[in-house]
Amino acid sequence: MESDHNNNIVQSYVSDYLNTLMPKHTGILARLEQDAAEQQIPIITPEVASLMEVLIKTTNPKHILEVGTAIGYSALLFCLAAGLESHLITIEREPHLIDTARANIDEAGLTNQIKVMPGDATEVLPCLTEPVDMIFLDGAKGHYTQMLEHCLNLLKPGGLLISDNVLFRGMVASEEKVKRRQGTIVTRMRTYLETITHHPQLKTSLLPIGDGLAISLKLPK
Ligand SMILES: C[S@@+](CC[C@H](N)C(=O)[O-])C[C@H]1O[C@@H](n2cnc3c(N)ncnc32)[C@H](O)[C@@H]1O
Repeated sequence: MESDHNNNIVQSYVSDYLNTLMPKHTGILARLEQDAAEQQIPIITPEVASLMEVLIKTTNPKHILEVGTAIGYSALLFCLAAGLESHLITIEREPHLIDTARANIDEAGLTNQIKVMPGDATEVLPCLTEPVDMIFLDGAKGHYTQMLEHCLNLLKPGGLLISDNVLFRGMVASEEKVKRRQGTIVTRMRTYLETITHHPQLKTSLLPIGDGLAISLKLPK
């Protein structure tokens, strides 16, 4: 699991303390947290998970779209928070992760609510037509700007677009922190942040939690 220990966004003593306060998940979510840690599969951090649970329970989305499934942890967490009438589509390009995510979704009894769509999100997104109440971007990090207009077409007015990893281990905020071969993704993420903070259809809040989270409200027309 990605943690504050390797992203330098929140000092580790603060995030460690906050995490001691969070009630631990049980059942399949606890098992997936363990699997992700053991297999070094990045999943949303506990502080992002709890914020998403609060946002979902506050806004009550019925249709959620996610980019970046991995093993299905966040898809399950979102759907469990959103309740029995919710539906979630999640896009993943790695075949072995798609198989694992589908098995986990099946085990959780949520096959009727969660659909894993295989493929590259930049190609899958333009094919989607059903309007959604919430979008969570957590994959294809170098392509957030490219995906934005498709997301805005799908997102209903009043819906939330939530983008994870927007500070990219702090590199987006400081030139000194940019590591070799990460320059392109950092430049693209800065362009994305400029775009969503100045976009006429969006009101965006940027939070230095997890690996950096942007919460953008699609304004009513
Ligand atoms: C951080 S992980 C997702 C974690 C998941 N949201 C969770 O918290 O449980 C990012 C995932 O996005 C997938 N991904 C990266 N680029 C992608 C693309 N262009 N299209 C679809 N999936 C992509 C990766 O294979 C990886 O599984």
